[in-house]
Amino acid sequence: MTADPRPRRKRVVGLGGTFRQASSSERLVRAVLAACEALGAETAMFDGPALARLPHFNPEHAERTVEERELVDAVRACDALVIGSPGYHGGYSGLVKNAVDLLEDLRADTRVYFDGMPVGLVVTAAGWQACGTTLSALRDVVHAMRGWPTPVGIAVNSVEQRPFGADGVVADEGIASAVQAQARQIMGFAFGSSA
Ligand SMILES: Cc1cc2nc3c(=O)[nH]c(=O)nc-3n(C[C@H](O)[C@H](O)[C@H](O)COP(=O)(O)O)c2cc1C
Repeated sequence: MTADPRPRRKRVVGLGGTFRQASSSERLVRAVLAACEALGAETAMFDGPALARLPHFNPEHAERTVEERELVDAVRACDALVIGSPGYHGGYSGLVKNAVDLLEDLRADTRVYFDGMPVGLVVTAAGWQACGTTLSALRDVVHAMRGWPTPVGIAVNSVEQRPFGADGVVADEGIASAVQAQARQIMGFAFGSSA
């Protein structure tokens, strides 16, 4: 049997949003995933309601639910991540942090945590201050987990900006261009472990 000569498609996993289906942070993560797909990626999304089904992460507890295993396995097998969160009290939400904490399960992998992976970050908040602090906090988390936050981060002020058209697609030109730029950086990253 000869090996398939076609390069494997990059796998990009998105996670984020709020308890509300189609929250703005979720839709922006989906927009980045769609832009990655247009550049050849295959993608999977863990949205807010999916993250809400994860139990509270407990490092003392080794048993995993089906939902926990699905997320860990997807991130273990992916080439890039997109994480999106609303700004809550100047930081990212507990829902998103709970999902990230579960990825502690990647600590003993050959590729530890997000080692060598590009990670696109998306934040929505009701003010510029939380846009900045939340994006910065997420970058710190990605660094702690050995990932590479893309230089283009997306921060949307949900009070001053109208990111989406009536069809729910990103309509604001500046935000759409940031989405495309982040996707290009994710897909153009020299994939590989730094170990
Ligand atoms: C519990 C809570 C705390 C919040 N804290 C802040 C904050 O500190 N600063 C801010 O600008 N917006 C804050 N917001 C507003 C959200 O960041 C904003 O509505 C955001 O657009 C929600 O995004 P979503 O559509 O993804 O839910 C808060 C909202 C909630 C529910």
